[in-house]
Amino acid sequence: MKFAKDFLFGAATAAYQVEGAWNEDGKGISNWDVFSKIPGKTFEGTNGDVAVDHYHRYKEDIKLMADMGLESYRFSISWPRIIPNGTGEVNPKGIEFYNNVINECLKYGIVPFVTLYHWDMPQVLEEKGGWTNKATIDAFVNYAETCFKAFGDRVKHWITFNETVVFCGLGYLAGAHPPAIVGDKNKYFQATHNVFLAHAKSVELYKSLKQYGEIGITHVYSPAFSVDDKEENIKATEHARNLDTYWYYDPILKGEYPKYVVDHIEKLGVKIDWTAEELEIIRRNADKNDFIGLNYYQPQRVMKNDVQENVERTRENSTGSPGNPSFDGVYKTVRMDDKVYTKWGWEISPEGFLDGLKLLKERYGDVKIYITENGLGDEDPIIEGEVVDIPRIKFIEKHLRAVKDAIKEGVNIKGYYAWSAIDLLSWLNGYKKQYGFIYVDHNNNLERKKKASYYWYKHVIETRGEEI
Ligand code: BG6
Repeated sequence: MKFAKDFLFGAATAAYQVEGAWNEDGKGISNWDVFSKIPGKTFEGTNGDVAVDHYHRYKEDIKLMADMGLESYRFSISWPRIIPNGTGEVNPKGIEFYNNVINECLKYGIVPFVTLYHWDMPQVLEEKGGWTNKATIDAFVNYAETCFKAFGDRVKHWITFNETVVFCGLGYLAGAHPPAIVGDKNKYFQATHNVFLAHAKSVELYKSLKQYGEIGITHVYSPAFSVDDKEENIKATEHARNLDTYWYYDPILKGEYPKYVVDHIEKLGVKIDWTAEELEIIRRNADKNDFIGLNYYQPQRVMKNDVQENVERTRENSTGSPGNPSFDGVYKTVRMDDKVYTKWGWEISPEGFLDGLKLLKERYGDVKIYITENGLGDEDPIIEGEVVDIPRIKFIEKHLRAVKDAIKEGVNIKGYYAWSAIDLLSWLNGYKKQYGFIYVDHNNNLERKKKASYYWYKHVIETRGEEI
């Protein structure tokens, strides 16, 4: 089977992880510009000041993507580059930069797939309470409108937010992302509601502009599976699914919050400030979503847990590796002896991907899905000057196979974006953890080099995945 002609083969990046130029051409300071400079927060103090200098080298990078045959490039717009203070004046140089990136993509027939929020928020807004402050909702919608109007004639695929569970969870429960707050359940849930509302309002606005493109949201999907068939672990797994998946997709696709979670957090004493009007905005926009974006790296292996503790997570245990109790103490994720893990402790499970996709279909039906991220973080071997990233090829091959199988089973998947197009800054793990098809030499003026996976993915695209 070949992938259909309208299935997009892509690759992704995010502004803070590639652009650099953190204080150039009128860009405002972001929360990540500040957070990454707090000692101990990131691997060896790495930050995105220069990143891989995509800001100055986008032409070279997009040419490399075009030569790879990439059909679509998912990138994010840096909010503080467009509106330096979060609200108010627009920075013409910021608009110019993204116009250039978009036009460069279109020159090669690459479909730009744009994320509006991939975690870098104007610091001015973060200082006023970030996502816990309702004023941030309207500031975001205004920023979204600015982007729709500036770029919407050429950009027909929009993602509002990337991985709400990550920036809210690590930001307000685990203290590992800005604003580095630990264990504040109220702030966490309030922030997620405010994000869903900002999403719904942006969708409504986008549709009213009649630009006839697609809009959706991206969540990271780490499907929860019980470690065994003991009833207590199965119950804990259902709990994890509610908290980590349904809480995130239900308000978007069903227009309402899962009752199970609403009841549960009420018992925990969490009070969300949500008005009837806000809930109505979320409800009435649910059927306007054109797709959901789904990032998949690994499943969660779940078992019951009895001890409630607020754990401040460090770089090592905050980005995916199992071994963490849930914030409410009900379940924990565990490492299993019979599973395979990456060097950073992330389980490699294409089977979990397929099973997870089937579970989503059961709950949400035929919703259109783009796999907006999937990839292997590794330290790539260099042999005789060549970057021989065979494990990445194997990883993507198996996961593309799972996508193919899911499509055969009726899951409506319309595109696959490997993470990442080019080696980039891992938020907390520096440049050591590589994901790209294109290598960046940090010892030699950030020179680019095609990896083995680059040639392999090119072939996959040319043959529309027939040999997968
Ligand atoms: C996703 C993010 O959560 O995971 C990416 O959307 C990120 O921005 C990717 O880089 C991999 O995470 P990490 O921690 O390995 O860089």
